[in-house]
Amino acid sequence: MDFSSDNAWGVVPEIMAAIESANSGTAASYGNDAWTERLGKAFSDLFERDVAVFPVFTGTAANSIALACATAPWGAIYCHPESHIHIDECGAPEFYSGAKLLPIEGPAGKFSAASLEAAQINWGDRGVHSVRPMSVSITQATEAGTLYSLAEVEAISEVAKKYKLALHMDGARFANAVSALGCTPAELTWKRGVDLLSFGATKNGALAAEAIVVFTPRLVEGLEYRRKRAGHLSSKMRFVSAQLLAYLEDALWLRLAERANARAKRLAEGLQRLGVVPAYPVEANEIFVWLSMADMDALNAKGARLWPWTNVVQGGKVMTRMVTSFATPEKDIDAFLSELKKLAGK
Ligand SMILES: Cc1ncc(COP(=O)(O)O)c(C=O)c1O
Repeated sequence: MDFSSDNAWGVVPEIMAAIESANSGTAASYGNDAWTERLGKAFSDLFERDVAVFPVFTGTAANSIALACATAPWGAIYCHPESHIHIDECGAPEFYSGAKLLPIEGPAGKFSAASLEAAQINWGDRGVHSVRPMSVSITQATEAGTLYSLAEVEAISEVAKKYKLALHMDGARFANAVSALGCTPAELTWKRGVDLLSFGATKNGALAAEAIVVFTPRLVEGLEYRRKRAGHLSSKMRFVSAQLLAYLEDALWLRLAERANARAKRLAEGLQRLGVVPAYPVEANEIFVWLSMADMDALNAKGARLWPWTNVVQGGKVMTRMVTSFATPEKDIDAFLSELKKLAGK
């Protein structure tokens, strides 16, 4: 009954097999291998146009390197206050770019195009005395488990373009978002004006593989150097690229995300039946609920894995995050719900 994170789960057999099959003979190092060569075509096919793709090991690196390419050290990056880049990356985006993060509030993990425009207007232009906003980062699916609709992404992108801000998408859960929205990867990104994407795979079945995908060619400049300086140019890149190739093959990435999302739906529906209403709409594979510490402890004592998401206590309850993955067994969801039902005396 582990709902702590999609990272808690392992690697899908298809990706393990791809690593194993890459493990024979020698191959050129630092990305000059046959697997990495195939990545360019695989990602360009996926996005229905030429893209530049740069594998890295972690989402933090993907976000930080991508944002550093879009933002000068005297620049600023708009983001949501609860975004991973703002609160969960130990300052890596600031470290790699030198830029400042400017949070924009908004409900359920999202900010609107209007809020972005207001933030930009309020920031004003104080010349050399203040940082200059240069990019915007949105997360899809968001840290609240919600989704930006295609129209919302497009509206944000219109404001970004108006003020010459590059638009970055943190897609640590991009697969969950594409699956839930029923759109194509192209429709969710460059067709809506996204310039750079952190394309996640690790949470959805890879061992350690993420990719920076660049749609706007001028932003590629320096990316390879930044990746090397960040320590993410793998000498044995073939194993990272083999993971990404297997992830894309036969739409494995989408099939896995569909399963993770379906498990979240099953869990959310069960919770609602027991009167536990998620704090945000459940649109991908994350659910946030308010529980008393006593209930959380009791559920953990029965084999669940939950913890408080924040320090905020409301009406004696704390927020917990429940995440499902491609591997979450349905029986774990049912067992968890039955424990919760017993606790509620129902
Ligand atoms: C929204 C989001 N972005 C990025 C990441 C990537 O983090 P990591 O550097 O741990 O791979 C995560 C992981 O939790 C995440 O939830």
